[in-house]
Amino acid sequence: MTVPRSEYLSNVWADGIFAGRVLFITGGAGSIGSAQTRALVHLGANACIVGRSVEKTEAAAREIAKVRDGARVLGLGGVDVRNFEALKAAADRCVAELGAIDFVIAGAAGNFVAPISGLSPNAFKTVLEIDTLGTFHTLKATLPHLLASAARNRNPSPSGLTGGRFLAVSVTFHYTGMPLQAHVSAAKAAVDALTATAALEYGPMGLTANCLAPGAIAGTEGMARLASRLVTDGTKGEADAATATAGRTVPSGRWGTVRDIADATVFLFSDAGNYINGTTIVVDGAGWRRPGENAVGLDPDMRYPDFLLKGEFSRHVKDGRRKAKL
Ligand code: COA
Repeated sequence: MTVPRSEYLSNVWADGIFAGRVLFITGGAGSIGSAQTRALVHLGANACIVGRSVEKTEAAAREIAKVRDGARVLGLGGVDVRNFEALKAAADRCVAELGAIDFVIAGAAGNFVAPISGLSPNAFKTVLEIDTLGTFHTLKATLPHLLASAARNRNPSPSGLTGGRFLAVSVTFHYTGMPLQAHVSAAKAAVDALTATAALEYGPMGLTANCLAPGAIAGTEGMARLASRLVTDGTKGEADAATATAGRTVPSGRWGTVRDIADATVFLFSDAGNYINGTTIVVDGAGWRRPGENAVGLDPDMRYPDFLLKGEFSRHVKDGRRKAKL
């Protein structure tokens, strides 16, 4: 079933603004990543999606290629961002088959809900390896191609076509700290720092490097794992109603959509985003500014700090990990 444009792209962008561009994305088969990819491909880009699952990655590539006649979307499965050599081979194959890498999105991430007491050293390390090391690997593997793209597409370019753009998907948890998310907060703080440094080191060569930090985005795998105060296993009607109720605690009055994230991505990669470098664009309806209300991983009746003091665990904390081991 084709996804209507209104679900992944607003009407403000002109067709063809990414003609001839090539996107390389990790996590491109996920709900946010596929919307970002779909939007860029719709506007003229070709893309290479890499992911761990062969089946999921290839299926996503086939689906996304349908958004535009003549679009080429490669799906390279069996690539774990923790494995630098595999990522480098994927980046090189992307260039061999699609001719370039102009845009990179480091979107692959790992997450689950766990208090520090329920995080083994290996669990903490695993998320750092996927998020932080994975983003570093993605940057390293694509950097020569991004630099070549930046050299071909000066910023600003007289043609309006862009290249040499790196974007890491981050979070907002580390701005305040977030209970049950020590692993992700630490990992993504490092992603922000890495990206800022990339902007400083490679800005003089024409690259831009930024982060995009989504808030609560409806219908994503992330929210199914993290949703606070939300029944995620009810019927669709119940889930929609619960999402609407939960969205009221966000200052903008709703959860975000994957289109909100795709639109921000298009903006950053477009000719309108030329001078945005070394920063994080937060797309969360100001949600992080109310962290008490928007804590993740809590059941409807759980309140901070009572749940910690009472030793309560939400449904999002996996069975078998509920015994506190301080
Ligand atoms: N709570 C606490 N610890 C957990 C956990 C949970 N829910 N799930 C996994 N872990 C621990 C494991 O027990 C293991 O530690 P141990 O060896 O001390 O027991 C460690 O984390 C690694 O788990 P493993 O399942 O071997 O890792 P993996 O590489 O197969 O999977 C994950 C990585 C755990 C991040 C998995 O959730 C994943 O693949 N996620 C990808 C998708 C995703 O998270 N998307 C969300 C984006 S918001």
